[in-house]
Amino acid sequence: MTDTKTSATTSAAPAGSKETVRTQIIESLADLRAWRAQTGSLWLKGQKAAKETRGGADSPRIGFVPTMGALHQGHLELVKRAKADCDVVVVSIFVNPFQFAPHEDFGKYPRTFENDLKLLSEMGCDLVFYPSEKEIYPRGKDSIMAVVPPSPLNDTLEGAFRPTFFRGVATVVLKLFNLVQPHVAFFGEKDYQQLQVVKALVEDLDVPVEIIGVPTVRETDGLAMSSRNAYLGATERTEATSLYKALSLVKTMADAGKDVAEATAAASLLLKEEEGWTLQYLSVCHGKSLAPLTQFQKPYVIVTAAKLGEVRLIDNIVVP
Ligand code: PAF
Repeated sequence: MTDTKTSATTSAAPAGSKETVRTQIIESLADLRAWRAQTGSLWLKGQKAAKETRGGADSPRIGFVPTMGALHQGHLELVKRAKADCDVVVVSIFVNPFQFAPHEDFGKYPRTFENDLKLLSEMGCDLVFYPSEKEIYPRGKDSIMAVVPPSPLNDTLEGAFRPTFFRGVATVVLKLFNLVQPHVAFFGEKDYQQLQVVKALVEDLDVPVEIIGVPTVRETDGLAMSSRNAYLGATERTEATSLYKALSLVKTMADAGKDVAEATAAASLLLKEEEGWTLQYLSVCHGKSLAPLTQFQKPYVIVTAAKLGEVRLIDNIVVP
């Protein structure tokens, strides 16, 4: 390992395991490239990789979970899926400035690295890639070759409210894929449009990474887990459950044979009648293209974004 600070840490063994988990932290691109170049032989060094379970393949299957940190149960579910499916699990923690507009929350986005690392060690994550902004954007984020998703993926729904968001996501995800070179990457369905953007990215640009979408993890009262829930005050946290209630109302009305206009109008009214909500969109879209639908035709997704006070929340219900 070369130049910048690279450290390894050892955590407690995961519950129910006698294994001591060693989660390595890499901060520089040079170190990551060096690590990646020698991972082909990791299974020989006694890692969990089981050659025979993959029909004799001679290199470990690498699973990747890109994150911006502030990890919660939703992220851990992605890591769990990666652990079950892969021999080596890499998680990146990078709050990507390129996907935040100047007026958005880049500066105050929660950064909880020590706790994230503890959780990842407990999960048995093998490697945490934790680069600085300088490592990822050495010439600055504004002079980078960017990947711009096509319309309507880029400019509807989230894209209409965050016009440069998916450009920032697609660009950093492609860069991370090129660095980590995983076989498979895991993304939450909570960010449904992002998941479709990433699927289109690998399909259109022939990126040899399999993308797996993992269902949204919810609090017991239905609120979708999100790092931004940390911004909610106590009262807002209780009120926040209305967003999922509104989505569920659309689904119930769909199952009862109502049409899209009627169902979305009822759900929008539900939010309007509650204190503090500003609805940005509540739509029913095709499950892959995200084209708006007027009838409930599967596969579809009910998507919404709304502000509760100053906190912007998104959520969806996927109907495959
Ligand atoms: O979903 C996120 O946390 C981010 O958008 C991602 C995919 C890590 C890219 O920065």
